[in-house]
Amino acid sequence: MALTQDDLKRAVAQAAIAYVPADCIVGVGTGSTANFFIDELAKIKHKIRGAVASSEASAKRLQGHGIEVLSLNDAGDLPVYVDGADEITRHMHMVKGGGGALTREKIVAAASKKFICVCDASKLVDVLGKFPLPIEVIPMARSYIARELVKLGGQPKLREGFTTDNGNVILDVHNLQIMNPVELETTLNQLAGVVTNGLFARRGADVLLLGTPEGVKTLT
Ligand code: 5RP
Repeated sequence: MALTQDDLKRAVAQAAIAYVPADCIVGVGTGSTANFFIDELAKIKHKIRGAVASSEASAKRLQGHGIEVLSLNDAGDLPVYVDGADEITRHMHMVKGGGGALTREKIVAAASKKFICVCDASKLVDVLGKFPLPIEVIPMARSYIARELVKLGGQPKLREGFTTDNGNVILDVHNLQIMNPVELETTLNQLAGVVTNGLFARRGADVLLLGTPEGVKTLT
């Protein structure tokens, strides 16, 4: 029987458990693949001290499994962060934020020694940008930033009816062909009112666990 996308996500989530050291606090991402990882983490919860979550949704799921959720301020640096991506290249540059959790994801990733990206094979691309690039924006800066994004060649669209865990809005930027992700990430960070952009290139993934019909491939 053919493997479904969920089968591939479950397989990479299971493979990611091998990267979780005993007795540690784990950084946990957000989204459907991260949810599979949380469910796998529950099976070894007696071996870890707890988790730092990158969203309220993940915190709730972790707690639902009886896994202690700590604040990053209390936890300090983490050995490992496990999360999905909307797109990833062979250079380990990613677009993230499809679930709107990009700011906390970037913070937890920054505080982690290793970023383990868990994806099904559909997420691996040659050039980033087909998936609209999410940008978290302070609400009063929304129109200004949208105009600046048009100047950069994108077509920003407000994510309707969505507020981030931090009380901000998301602009999804369409039609970008991102040839230099590190440069664009830096440029977008300079715009006043941008909280976080969904390019994870300056600090990319360290390991990619890619779910394919032939099994989980490990890219480093
Ligand atoms: C959430 C994210 C997710 O990692 C990304 O959207 C991938 O999600 P999924 O595993 O459901 O495909 O960045 O903000």
